[in-house]
Amino acid sequence: MTGACLAEMGHRVRFVGRDTGKLDAIRAGKSPIFEPGLEELLVKNRERIETTTDIADAVHRTDLSFICVGTPPHNDGSSDLSQVETVSHAIGNALDTWHHTVVVKSTVLPGTIEEVIIPILETESGKKAFADFGIASNPEFLKEGTAVQDFFHTDRVVIGTQDPRSKELLESLYSPLQVPVFSTTIRVSEMIKFASNAFLATKISFANEVGNLCKEHGIDSYEVFAGVGLDTRISPSFFRSGLGFGGSCFPKDVGALIAHAKDKGVDTRILSSVIATNDDQPEHMVSLLQKHLPVRDRTIGVLGLAFKPDTDDIRESRAIPLIKSLLNAGARVIVYDPVAMDNFRHLFPDLTYASSPTEVLTADAVLIVTEWKAFETLDYRGKLVIDGRRIRKAREEAAVYEGLCW
Ligand code: UDX
Repeated sequence: MTGACLAEMGHRVRFVGRDTGKLDAIRAGKSPIFEPGLEELLVKNRERIETTTDIADAVHRTDLSFICVGTPPHNDGSSDLSQVETVSHAIGNALDTWHHTVVVKSTVLPGTIEEVIIPILETESGKKAFADFGIASNPEFLKEGTAVQDFFHTDRVVIGTQDPRSKELLESLYSPLQVPVFSTTIRVSEMIKFASNAFLATKISFANEVGNLCKEHGIDSYEVFAGVGLDTRISPSFFRSGLGFGGSCFPKDVGALIAHAKDKGVDTRILSSVIATNDDQPEHMVSLLQKHLPVRDRTIGVLGLAFKPDTDDIRESRAIPLIKSLLNAGARVIVYDPVAMDNFRHLFPDLTYASSPTEVLTADAVLIVTEWKAFETLDYRGKLVIDGRRIRKAREEAAVYEGLCW
């Protein structure tokens, strides 16, 4: 993603990876992931884009290396750094006589660059960080589905480095975007990423907790948070209550922060509750449904499997615990998603995968899990709908309608 956007800014970019299928796709101007606008950038900037499996070759021919590999969670929530370490060994090994800057975009906990990555780079290269080669933290704040738009119109770019040369290089790289650049130390930069995601996740769980209470009062939490959000100290965004958060970042990053804090002997009661509240929402949806229709031996339709619209990503999607809960309660489940069904099939091969959303509406009840635009145009008349994402047409038309927090 970052590479395609940098190419769009006029830079020559070499994508390095092990998966030759993905590299071939990039070279052919095909996006290896579903991300609106990405393919257009790959096609448009083809002549500036090269791909290779050879890290050393890429390091030798470029000024900056961005480490963008995953940091998936271990079972205890802590970050698995093995991919970051492998790449650091290879980059360190390739660091040569001229000045090269290594930029860490992967989400890594405070201290990782200084305690893990720099020692690897120095040992492999026999050189000194900040003197012989540059190193910086430059976390990613892109949202899936709007990543291209977010890159070019971000609220801020964060650059963490003690190295004036790398700082200048990165500041000039991002300066055409004309967005605020926050320059700081490496550790602060690493923490900004985690604190940002943890705060946004907290905001959502807070909205869900208050939203559940609103529901008991028969009031609309969206109206409540529209009023709350007018306070400029608070802001109205990320207050959409409902089924909770999924995706590759919020659950993982909050989990990693909790595990890290535990290591450091710091209590994170708020963050643990953020996860607990999030875990409860799918169960809460099934309870609402059961009030209207005991689900045993009934067919329940699920609209949306992706963790949010405009992506085929199902990682930590709320659809997963929701469907498990429905199956445990004895329901038959029919599902539809515009792009995420293939991914979901790997996890749940035995569900009924509908060929259209209309087919899902033939079920005894319908649960709305992802707010795809297409779901705004369906005919919900006569249906029993439990809505986790606030689809206006369903709200207006369904015979029986329950919003999760409204
Ligand atoms: C998030 C961060 O927003 C981004 O800055 C970071 O780089 C990566 O993680 P992403 O996971 O792509 O981005 O999606 P986002 O739009 O933040 O949504 C995450 C989850 O929260 C989704 O499941 C979404 O449905 C949910 N959400 C979001 C809510 O439930 N309510 C909201 O108000 C906003």
